[in-house]
Amino acid sequence: MLKGKHIILGITGSIAAYKAAYLIRGLVKRGAEVQVVITPAGKEFITPLTLATLSCHPVISEFFSNRDGTWNSHVDLGLWADAMLIAPATASTIAKMANGVADNMLVTTYLSCKAPVFVAPAMDLDMFAHPATRANLARLRSFGNRIIEPAEGELASHLVGKGRMEEPDRIIEALENYFAVREELKGKKILITAGPTYEKIDPVRFVGNYSSGKMGFALAEVCAERGAEVTLVAGPVALEVSNPRIKRVDVESAGEMYRAASDAFPDCDAAILSAAVADYRPESVAERKIKREKEREMTLRLIPNADIAASLGAVKREGQIMVGFALETDDETLHAMDKLRRKNLDFIVMNSLREKGAGFRCDTNKVTIIDKTGEETSYPLKSKREVASDIIDKLVTFSRWER
Ligand code: CTP
Repeated sequence: MLKGKHIILGITGSIAAYKAAYLIRGLVKRGAEVQVVITPAGKEFITPLTLATLSCHPVISEFFSNRDGTWNSHVDLGLWADAMLIAPATASTIAKMANGVADNMLVTTYLSCKAPVFVAPAMDLDMFAHPATRANLARLRSFGNRIIEPAEGELASHLVGKGRMEEPDRIIEALENYFAVREELKGKKILITAGPTYEKIDPVRFVGNYSSGKMGFALAEVCAERGAEVTLVAGPVALEVSNPRIKRVDVESAGEMYRAASDAFPDCDAAILSAAVADYRPESVAERKIKREKEREMTLRLIPNADIAASLGAVKREGQIMVGFALETDDETLHAMDKLRRKNLDFIVMNSLREKGAGFRCDTNKVTIIDKTGEETSYPLKSKREVASDIIDKLVTFSRWER
């Protein structure tokens, strides 16, 4: 998994810096190319000569060489990398990264780096437990950086607690897992519907619902990160996609969503129907804005929309996987199982409006996945991104696509 991968190894001033030698050896042994960037304090703990010898590359520490003025481009380095690993990461470097304090080559490179970043903290237990460190790590997580939690054990101070940098083999394992997962959906095409639909009443009004589209967009990002080509059919939402492997098709009504999803489906390996599609639409759309007629009631006559999931389920090919959603308020499992059968789904992601933090308009979700064999798995309250990861894990194991 690491063969040919470009890894920037950032080393900072901690006694755990000696373990960087084992890290380099392990990475190089697995075929990775390692470029070390070290902070001035890091050099007090391990010599550049050791690191350069093991990595077969000169070690970078300063912005330019004192000898001949050669400029070390942190931008080029950031673009070269497939991953950046900061191990050991001290409390001070973590704080600088969290706040963009670019006063050394390591943090500058971090800020220029487009590749995923792994951080392996190393510090005394009280420093690790301090709210400042906790907040800085939470901030790095919010940037999408991956924190490799330190282990418990005897620390340099001879105190025992959490703060020891994770062992090199485990850190390398985290990188390997990342690259393995990144390729697990390579070559797969996945259709995702997301968001609400708006059904026009007149030029200024519509029938809609509270769906934000966040769950569907998180699914699209996770699928694309794992190598899939995604077609994301999105109802009206205020969200952006960032991965170039996501082809976004914006629609407004259930009818438009139906057409876009039906076009994309035959070519797809899987479809995830997360949109909150309006079941009905006004029978007719007024050409002009409907005026208020003071004392008279107004009746809006609604006619049914096509059921996108059921229509795709009816033409599903052998080997195509379909995933649906069920947001319920009562008899959740019963309703969800009924939908799974009616729409010919392979599994259904059920959430209940009775659960706090689940459903529409929030960043979290609490789901239970039920598959067509009747297997049921309940997950705790998680961010929608983490829930998306769980759903895609299930998709990969259920479909028996190679991991
Ligand atoms: N769905 C769809 N097209 C529709 C309605 C629903 O594709 N017209 C999909 C949703 O994206 C979801 C699943 O079907 O994956 C279940 O949606 P839901 O609205 O709960 O199902 P309905 O069959 O409309 O049932 P209900 O009577 O509870 O509204």
